[in-house]
Amino acid sequence: MHKPANNDFPILHQLRERWSPRAFSSRPVPPESVRSLLEAARWAPSAYNTQPWRFIIAVREQSEAEFESALACINEYNRGWATAAPILLFAVAETHFENRSVNRHAFHDSGQAIAGLTVQATALGLYVHQMAGILIDEIRQTYSLPAGFEPVCGAAIGYLGEADNLADDLKQKELAPRARRPLSETVFSASWGQSAAL
Ligand SMILES: Cc1cc2nc3c(=O)[nH]c(=O)nc-3n(C[C@H](O)[C@H](O)[C@H](O)COP(=O)(O)O)c2cc1C
Repeated sequence: MHKPANNDFPILHQLRERWSPRAFSSRPVPPESVRSLLEAARWAPSAYNTQPWRFIIAVREQSEAEFESALACINEYNRGWATAAPILLFAVAETHFENRSVNRHAFHDSGQAIAGLTVQATALGLYVHQMAGILIDEIRQTYSLPAGFEPVCGAAIGYLGEADNLADDLKQKELAPRARRPLSETVFSASWGQSAAL
């Protein structure tokens, strides 16, 4: 499967090639690649350099039991396909600054960290499928999250698998073309809705 962006203007190779598969290969990810993914996330920018992100990772090859615990923190729909991935990851954000005021950029910055991880993954031939469909309370309990930390999203990470191994409805989605709203409806100038002349 190859589903590059149908981009209107030139973009980096990794941004063009990245997409979110549901068919993963069981092929393990080398530990040095795992370290590079997390290192890429670590070097994301953040408001006041607070680095609100934390990550919980479960590598099937390292611990089947930990992988199963992580899988139990994902909703049923996502569990159906994410179970094939060799790595599951949760991003968790620290929601307040040290002075106890709310860090309204905590989720934003955690998202930036995941974006960096995703680009690094693409460069390593890996794929990341992020998941909003996670079980927040289950994550809190399973990993004993301290107060002030909020699960942001999950991600299945691994090498690409065969779409033919997916159930029919998922296979259809896997094969469907990717789409994006055009820049003319996304980037405004003088007033809301007025397309910027790029
Ligand atoms: C924060 C976030 C949450 C997502 N949640 C889910 C999810 O729970 N289940 C799912 O199948 N896909 C999920 N996705 C994947 C999106 O549907 C996907 O990124 C989008 O359709 C664009 O496709 P592409 O990533 O292949 O370009 C999520 C993506 C993001 C960034």
